[in-house]
Amino acid sequence: MKPRSASLGNVNARGIFVTPVRSIFCAALVVLLGVALAAAQTAKGPATAKTPANASARTASPNQLSSPAIEAKVNTLLAKMTLEEKIGQLVQYSAGAATGPTSGRTDDKDMIRKGQVGSLFNVTGARATNELQHIAVDESRLHIPLIFGLDVIHGYRTTFPLNLGLAATWDPEIVEKASRIAALEASAAGVRWTFSPMVDIARDARWGRMSEGSGEDPFLGSAMARAYVHGYQGEKLDAPDSIVACAKHYVGYGAAEGGRDYNSTEISEHTLREYYLPPFRAAEEAGVGTFMSAFNAINGIPASANPFTIKQILKKEWGFKGFVVSDWTSVSEVMAHGIAIDGATAAQKAFLAGVDMDMQSNLYHQNMLKLVQSGKVSQAAIDEGVRRILRVKFAMGLFDHPYTDESKESAAFLRPDSLGVAKTAATKSIVLLRNEAVSGAALLPLSAKASSVALIGPLADDAGNMIGSWGGLGRGEDAITLRRALTQKLGESRIHYAKGGEILSTSDSDISAAVSAAKDSDVAILALGEDAPSMTGEAASRAWFGLPGRQQDLLEKVVATGKPVVLILFSGRPLTLPWAFEHVPAVLAAWYPGVQAGNALTDLLLGDAAPTGHLPLSWPRAVGQEPLYYNALNTGRPATDPDHPAEKGETKYVSRYIDEKGTPQFPFGFGLTYTSFRYGSTSASAKDISVSSLRQALAAKGKNVLSVTADVTNTGSRAGETVAQLYVRIDGTSIAMPVRMLKGFQSVTLAPGETRKVTFDVDEEKFAFWGAENKFGVEPARVTLWVAPSSAEGEPTTLNLTER
Ligand code: BGC
Repeated sequence: MKPRSASLGNVNARGIFVTPVRSIFCAALVVLLGVALAAAQTAKGPATAKTPANASARTASPNQLSSPAIEAKVNTLLAKMTLEEKIGQLVQYSAGAATGPTSGRTDDKDMIRKGQVGSLFNVTGARATNELQHIAVDESRLHIPLIFGLDVIHGYRTTFPLNLGLAATWDPEIVEKASRIAALEASAAGVRWTFSPMVDIARDARWGRMSEGSGEDPFLGSAMARAYVHGYQGEKLDAPDSIVACAKHYVGYGAAEGGRDYNSTEISEHTLREYYLPPFRAAEEAGVGTFMSAFNAINGIPASANPFTIKQILKKEWGFKGFVVSDWTSVSEVMAHGIAIDGATAAQKAFLAGVDMDMQSNLYHQNMLKLVQSGKVSQAAIDEGVRRILRVKFAMGLFDHPYTDESKESAAFLRPDSLGVAKTAATKSIVLLRNEAVSGAALLPLSAKASSVALIGPLADDAGNMIGSWGGLGRGEDAITLRRALTQKLGESRIHYAKGGEILSTSDSDISAAVSAAKDSDVAILALGEDAPSMTGEAASRAWFGLPGRQQDLLEKVVATGKPVVLILFSGRPLTLPWAFEHVPAVLAAWYPGVQAGNALTDLLLGDAAPTGHLPLSWPRAVGQEPLYYNALNTGRPATDPDHPAEKGETKYVSRYIDEKGTPQFPFGFGLTYTSFRYGSTSASAKDISVSSLRQALAAKGKNVLSVTADVTNTGSRAGETVAQLYVRIDGTSIAMPVRMLKGFQSVTLAPGETRKVTFDVDEEKFAFWGAENKFGVEPARVTLWVAPSSAEGEPTTLNLTER
């Protein structure tokens, strides 16, 4: 439970504490400065350090968390600290909720003064953070600054697409740019730590938090993890405009049983290492400063008290130097999980497992002193936890510049160049799922066909929803809706707008008004979907994912007019809409595109831009198919024709449903555009590779061992971009490997008729995996490779990994 109360100001929709003064100040300044800034901003763009999509997981920026100079400062300070002051560094509260029942605290300022708190979160604004920071730095005995955290998930004030949409760009560079902007804005408001990226692998769309991550695949997820970390932490972690990133929720949170949020997970070590850990590892290698331990239990042990995942894998094997913060009260939830019957034991188990900072439970504060005095927790363990937290504080330059320049705060928000990146990201995030011919030509782009347009649906003019479920300090009023942008572009007289009802409630008269609007127009655009705050994100698991309310009815009645229909889906998960995918000629998955939603969609609808988004997940036909993911095992009885539920006796005894196809509605990696591509057959530069040479390459770290190519041709009449994807299958190994694994991707832009040879340089790691003997390595095997436009296409080639 998250109590979200405030004693000193307001708590916004996400529970973020803002002082009233700051809110008014910012609102006024943003409006006043918006125009002036457009002219005044220089081209100080975001850092564009490239994160190559085809890069190996080893690509990392130098780890800035530890250096002899930092360690010396940490040790000097540690030597001056009392045990109470050390324990204080391990404690974190949500500012607005510090008065709430969970923590039982009412004395935030006094605690800071006494050095009893190391971090606050959900307090934002240069003025509010400076005020509290002054207490820490000026009034506490050792002047140790606080680190202010916040969930800056897909933007701070400039809201970018929801993370699932960012993943659908398949473009780590744009994700890095967006994260850099989020860092510039957040740091200007005194926030130097974000609880992002969420790098949980999500294979089950029932889980509402799928929306906050990068989908189902560890390779794509790792590329995105690196991009977020590089963007937030910037070139220099100690620059005042860098913020520390936090890889969460460590680990296995996305595997929640039944898609029910917070639920327990059973994950074998092989599955953990092959699927759930890689994006965390990528974040760690990119230099992420912090990790957040998850709510779920893994194989019976809560992730927030799990010595195997935290102490052994993260800290020992990977050598992570930063600190681990618990999720919100996940230390006290160790009791509900059932491995502690009192708070002291919960604190002891979580801390000794490696959770350095207690978010909101108040249990470290209450129990740690006694735990040390009784010998249950050693002084050395305390020093180790505190050392990690101080290390991050020194590494981020917090001791050198603890305050934020209040005069510069508003100027950092919604800058024209930031809005430009938001528009590019939004345009790239939208996936064209279907584009059938109407009167002989694909319905989209509408261009000349749009002489009069019926714009229908509860999400056509809903600015608040465009921000998504976790939009930082983003505001609906900053978002451009589809209605606004389309009207600006086409003119009021060409748009017949009919809301068609609310997301959850639609009356017959709403529907008939929409039907009339469609009848009066050449084409109808329907903007339908989920309500972001209540149906996606945390604690928003769904057992049904059709269109909520009567939107399906609305859709069917508009389609029945016979007018061509474009359906735009706004959602934080794939929606199961078999009827729509059969009867609606054009369908776009828009997720929640952020502040530039309307502009991006208008460009795509009218053909000023072409869709380039690809699915970061397998789109189900029915909820009963979940969990659904492309990189599944083959089973001993794979369905021979998974596209058809078996009807005849001889095909009964295979792995399938009797009442639904086995394939997804749209496969992982899929996405159409306004031209078409032909992928030629895949070829590889070798037919045999010796395992011993691969082992040598593994030891030497980073050697390309193979080139894989395919000719890709633009077969349409318009220039276009495709994302070429490299898939690998490894057979004959000690443990079963999936039917396909993504191991590379690159976007290719081709003129009409142009053919290009797309090449993937493949290093030895692409053939390595966590084998039956519980170690990472290569084995003799048969390898199949595809260069393809999705996980369900491509003409493969094979080669052998031979023992020699
Ligand atoms: C969420 C985290 C978030 C934290 C702090 C928790 O409920 O699971 O993702 O970072 O709250 O707001």
